[in-house]
Amino acid sequence: MIPAKRIHTVEEYYFSRKLREVRGLVNAGKNIINLGIGSPDLQPPSIVVDALEESLNDEMAHKYQSYQGIPELRNAIADFYQKNYQVTLNAETEVLPLMGSKEGIMHISMAYLDEGDEVLIANPSYPTYTSVTKLLGAIPRYYDLHAANDWLPNLDELEKQDLSKVKFMWVNYPHMPTGAKATKTFFEKLIVFAKKHQILIINDNPYSFILNEHPLSILAIDGAKEVALELNSLSKSFNMAGWRTGMVMGKAEHIQHVLKVKSNMDSGMFYGIQKGAIKALSSSKEWFSQLNTIYEKRRKLVWEVATKLQCTFDKETAGMFVWAKLPSDNTLTSEQFVDKLLYEKSVFITPGSIFGTQGEGYVRFSLCVSEEKIKEVINRIA
Ligand SMILES: Cc1ncc(COP(=O)(O)O)c(C=O)c1O
Repeated sequence: MIPAKRIHTVEEYYFSRKLREVRGLVNAGKNIINLGIGSPDLQPPSIVVDALEESLNDEMAHKYQSYQGIPELRNAIADFYQKNYQVTLNAETEVLPLMGSKEGIMHISMAYLDEGDEVLIANPSYPTYTSVTKLLGAIPRYYDLHAANDWLPNLDELEKQDLSKVKFMWVNYPHMPTGAKATKTFFEKLIVFAKKHQILIINDNPYSFILNEHPLSILAIDGAKEVALELNSLSKSFNMAGWRTGMVMGKAEHIQHVLKVKSNMDSGMFYGIQKGAIKALSSSKEWFSQLNTIYEKRRKLVWEVATKLQCTFDKETAGMFVWAKLPSDNTLTSEQFVDKLLYEKSVFITPGSIFGTQGEGYVRFSLCVSEEKIKEVINRIA
C-alpha cells in the first residue's frame, strides 16, 4: 500500500527514534542517565490520584464523555485562569479541555489552515508546530530568535515582510527550549501586530508555573481575545504528562471552530482524568512552591554539569530545562556533542538543532531527573 504523500512531509519524531537507541543501550547493560526529555518524574498531588480512584464507581465513570469536557472541569479551568493569570473566561464558551496541548496544536491548525496558508513559527521551537503545519499542506515561515534579543521575535523585522498569506503565529512563552520569558509589554506589542496584520496568535503556555515567579497569560492583555488563543497543560504544572490533560482558551467563536474539528476526532476525555484534573487545578500556591524548590535544587546541579562541559547559559530562565551554549572552541555539531556524551559517559541530553537551525550550537538539559542522578552525571564527567 502506498501511504499518503503527506507522510513524506515529516520525519519520525526525534525522541521516538533516539529513545529507541537509548533503550537499546540500556538493554545492552549501559546505565544511561536521561537528561533528555521533559517528562516529569515527580508525582502529581495525591488528591489528584485519590479523585481518579474515587471516581471509578461513579455512574458516569465509563461512559462516553461530553466533547467539551464536564462543566466542573471547564469551571475549574476558568477559576484557575482567574486566580493565577487574572483572566476572566466564560467557562461555557471560552474554554475547551484537551487531551494534552499537543493535540490542540493539530486541532487549531485543522480549524484554521488551508493548503498553501503560511504559519509563523519560531526558530528554535517545539518541533510539533512545524510537523503539523506540513502535514496539513500549509507552509512554515520561520522567524529567527536570538539570544541577543532575549529569544523574543523581532516584530519590526517581521513587519517588513509580506505577511498577506500568514494565517497564524505560534508563540510559546516561557519558551521551550530556551526558557526565555515574555514581558507584558512584548505581549501588548504582539497583539497590536496581530490586529494590524489579521494574524491569529497562539501562545502555547505549558511552562508558566515552572521556575517562574510571574506566570503570564497572553489573554491578560486588553483586547487579546479578539486575535489570540492560549494553550495550556497540566503535564508539567502538575506532573500529569501521561494523563493527557490540557486546554485551549479564547473567544467563543475561535473555540467553536476548534470544537468542530475536535468533536469529529475523539469522544471525550476519560471521566476519572477529568475528576483528577479538577482537583489539580484547585491546588494552592504551596503546590508550586514545593515543586519549584525541587526544580531549583536540580537546576543548580545541572548548571554544574553544564559548567563542567564548558557550556555557558543564562540563569534568568523559566521552565524545566537548562539551555546551554556549547564551548566556543567546540568543533562538533550539537548532535555529535550529544552522541559523544551518550557513548562515552552514558548521559543523554538533547541537541539544540532538533528545535531548528537557530538551536545549532546549543544543548538542552532536562530537570526531570533526581538530584542523586545529576550528581552521578557530575561524577561521570569530572
Ligand atoms: C512547548 C510545548 N508545547 C506543548 C507540549 C505538549 O505538552 P502536552 O503534554 O500538554 O501535550 C510540550 C511538551 O513537551 C512543549 O514543550
